[in-house]
Amino acid sequence: MTTLTTRAVRIARKADQAPGICSFELVDPDGGALPSFSAGAHIDVHLPGGLVRQYSLCNNPVETHRYLIAVLRDPASRGGSAGMHDLVEDQCIRISDPKNHFELAAHAKRSLLLAGGIGVTPILCMAEWLASEGAEFEMHYCTRSRARTAFVERLAAGSFASRVHLHHDDEQPLDAAKLLAAPEPGTHLYVCGPTRFMDWVLETARAAGWPEDRLHREYFAAAPIDTRDDGSFEVQIASTGIVIGIAADQTVVAALAARGIEVQTSCEQGVCGTCLTRVLDGVPDHRDMYLTPDEQAKGDQFTPCCSRAKTARLVLDL
Ligand code: FES
Repeated sequence: MTTLTTRAVRIARKADQAPGICSFELVDPDGGALPSFSAGAHIDVHLPGGLVRQYSLCNNPVETHRYLIAVLRDPASRGGSAGMHDLVEDQCIRISDPKNHFELAAHAKRSLLLAGGIGVTPILCMAEWLASEGAEFEMHYCTRSRARTAFVERLAAGSFASRVHLHHDDEQPLDAAKLLAAPEPGTHLYVCGPTRFMDWVLETARAAGWPEDRLHREYFAAAPIDTRDDGSFEVQIASTGIVIGIAADQTVVAALAARGIEVQTSCEQGVCGTCLTRVLDGVPDHRDMYLTPDEQAKGDQFTPCCSRAKTARLVLDL
């Protein structure tokens, strides 16, 4: 994995927000300002032991004295969430500067924010920002139960409490078909949460006629992929003409690294977009959750950490 530029931050506060969900307030160790960010941004957190994980910032982007993230301890995680929960106050960790692949659309007339579970983090940041801008928005937050809902007090005490609608599986679940029934011109939809929740929201929106360019989403984890039929293929490096074979059980990133060609990576599962690479020829077999369906259909870029090829060769703009 390529090491990205990182900075040290101190965990100023670690707090329980709901069962299994901890928030972490990260500050500059010397008390300085942190790089600014926009609503929807995330940081890479470099955990002791070498794991790198992405977490959305959930504080208001007007703040420069801290970054706030929240992490759900996931029993099925590959070590990231458990490693985060093991961190303690005053411990220093390294993070990347904020990056944003989940931006609010400029000039939207209205924003409809939908969060499922821990997907509330970027949505909360968006709500804070839109409220401070005096923008028109509505937030819907779905969780299993009231007891498992993070940030309830912050939402209830916030300036935009009247625009927040809580839905719980065991009490007033979200009626997505009703909420999304009539897409209004200028309204943009933002959704973040577990893959099944997001797919449900996006499919409901598409069925109701929402245009793709007004649907915005950020996945946390890639859906399981059946790799049993994966075959080998080749990639050609456009700048040098070198052709590299990719074995059936090998990622493009790994095959390139073995030949000394480094592609920046972070999540290594098609979620973050860090490895995005232009494709000059050939047809990618997209396995990521990062590109939109329209972007995938264009076939001019792919995520070599997980995606493969439908043609015998891909020519990469490297
Ligand atoms: S490294 Fe995250 S999408 Fe490839």
